[in-house]
Amino acid sequence: MTAQIIDGNALSKQLRTEVATRAQALKAQGVTPGLAVVLVGDNPASQVYVRNKVKACEDSGLHSVLEKYEATMTEADLLARVEALNNDPSIHGILVQLPLPAHIDAQKVIEAISPAKDVDGFHIASAGALMTGMPGFWPCTPYGCMKMLESIGYDLRGKHAVVIGRSNIVGKPMALMLLQKDATVTVAHSRTQNLKALTLQADVIVAAVGKRNVLTADMVKPGAVVLDVGMNRNDEGKLCGDVDFDGVKEVAGYITPVPGGVGPMTITMLLVNTLEAAERASK
Ligand code: GUN
Repeated sequence: MTAQIIDGNALSKQLRTEVATRAQALKAQGVTPGLAVVLVGDNPASQVYVRNKVKACEDSGLHSVLEKYEATMTEADLLARVEALNNDPSIHGILVQLPLPAHIDAQKVIEAISPAKDVDGFHIASAGALMTGMPGFWPCTPYGCMKMLESIGYDLRGKHAVVIGRSNIVGKPMALMLLQKDATVTVAHSRTQNLKALTLQADVIVAAVGKRNVLTADMVKPGAVVLDVGMNRNDEGKLCGDVDFDGVKEVAGYITPVPGGVGPMTITMLLVNTLEAAERASK
């Protein structure tokens, strides 16, 4: 059996077209959805990420502002910038790129963002909203995974989902989203014993660890859906995920590739959240 590929680029293209259409409709009412991306320091990976986010906004007709600051910026100055953006009516979404320099308390900065503009979904209010099923912004990566499941018409009711990884950005919110769709959810992590015994029972597996080959073919039930959130480099320097793609695709029913899977969906859901923030603000 060879798995069907869930193409994150194709799905992103479709969703971004919908974003562009909705953005046009808002513009006709005099509101241009706006995202502020704040980068502190010169982390090379972060520079690439923020550039991609700003470009994606432009391509979909969203307004975006990139604010870049020296790594020496004080926490107080950054908090003041966040507060100014909270009060800026042309900005509907605020994203402070992580990681921040060590002298800045990242959690404090995230909590300073107005929950109404928290398009990353990292604020405690957003996390609480997700946990209780209230309206709020969902973190983009797990939200993108949910959209991928939706795109294949997958009904999660009563299915067993195993999430590997328990980060605040992916693993934990992913588990809550799957639970909200009535899946039975297991969260596995670095201290989990006998991961294979769990994954072999899974109808859906989300690998979000940040380590190559965490999931291999012998760990997957035939026909299972495998979503790979990992972004790693192999020995040749090529981008790869957490899943042994070549092996697992022979067993799984569906699989997401790396690159071209969950990655593009993360930025797409950021655009969706920003648009949603603008729509809510204009109501
Ligand atoms: N750093 C790596 N991924 C992300 C993300 O999704 N949002 C923010 N703000 N920083 C990140």
